[in-house]
Amino acid sequence: MLEDRFGRRFEYLRLSITDVCNFRCTYCLPDGYQGNGKTRFLSQPQIATLAGAFAGLGTRKIRITGGEPSLRKDLTEIIAICAQTQGIDKVALTTNGFKLPGQVKQWKDAGLSALNVSIDSLDPRQFHAITGHNKLDTVLQGVESALALGLKVKVNSVLLKGYSQTLLKHALNWLKNTPVTLRLIELMQTGDNQAFFAENHLSGQSIKAELLASGWLPIMRGKTAGPAQEFSHPDYQGNIGLIMPYDKDFCTSCNRLRVSATGNLHLCLFAEQGLSLAPWLQDGDIAGLQQHMLQLLGQKHSRHWLQQGLTGATQQLAMLGG
Ligand code: GTP
Ligand code: 5AD
Ligand code: SF4
Repeated sequence: MLEDRFGRRFEYLRLSITDVCNFRCTYCLPDGYQGNGKTRFLSQPQIATLAGAFAGLGTRKIRITGGEPSLRKDLTEIIAICAQTQGIDKVALTTNGFKLPGQVKQWKDAGLSALNVSIDSLDPRQFHAITGHNKLDTVLQGVESALALGLKVKVNSVLLKGYSQTLLKHALNWLKNTPVTLRLIELMQTGDNQAFFAENHLSGQSIKAELLASGWLPIMRGKTAGPAQEFSHPDYQGNIGLIMPYDKDFCTSCNRLRVSATGNLHLCLFAEQGLSLAPWLQDGDIAGLQQHMLQLLGQKHSRHWLQQGLTGATQQLAMLGG
């Protein structure tokens, strides 16, 4: 069982399968990332080894992420590998959605059970300004196809100063008749976006107050719930969620570990340097991998470093282990 010294259990793996992305979101990859031609991302056998090792230690859910995972030509096969791993009962995908209309059916047939789609604005011009692409219609069409297939859909929108009020207005309109959960995510500081963060970060607290004042009701949080505080409203088919990683209780409910597209274990979203699993992945050594991961889990911190008030060298050290 993957359990840390604070009693948190990790039944959820976030698995990145590529760092490449075709969008150029201002807060993430403003120049896009086409890859450097040299980096090799996890192969299908390595993914099978990882899924088997995690499942054997109690993991029940795998979320496939990127970069943009649908840029891998073998995404459907990867979904099938995860779905067919004994012990895994949920396979989810986080995508920017541009390939949804053509491919969501085959992903569902391969065993996909849930979908998170990034849509930072429901206004075509603002969507273009944030992502560098004119694809809002395609993405929304993809969401409709996914819903028609019976997939559970969550939509992620990053809160950015200057865009949030338009976003909220359009979101409320859309959610009246669209049964998705739209999660407003507070912008997070990363190694690469510090100046952007300082200019654009907006707290979710004021939006929470607006929602509560207009009849939105907090939904009780389940034991295995994700990072969002969710709200429902009797007049709306959709729900709204708030993801506030700077909130003091955010890490208490942490239930996931992550593996990068190059096979490094990250004990926390904010642990920028990963811990290499390469030797065990190369050999397909599930038992060895499990033993190694159990050891590494001892390094997981109670909270991420942005909440620990650490500085300088101490901060760098904390980031190594999460
Ligand atoms: P579900 O709970 O399964 O729906 O997934 P998710 O919301 O975690 O996945 P998604 O890929 O949609 O991520 C949305 C946001 O969740 C990210 O932008 C982060 O803000 C937050 N998040 C995801 N994983 C982590 C994590 O390991 N730690 C922290 N602190 N935040 C996370
Ligand atoms: N801050 C907040 N959310 C981010 N995402 C990517 N980078 C950041 C960041 N710096 C979001 C994407 C996607 C989800 C997986 O994470 O928009 O929806
Ligand atoms: Fe980053 Fe996702 Fe935007 Fe690509 S689509 S630039 S990975 S946030």
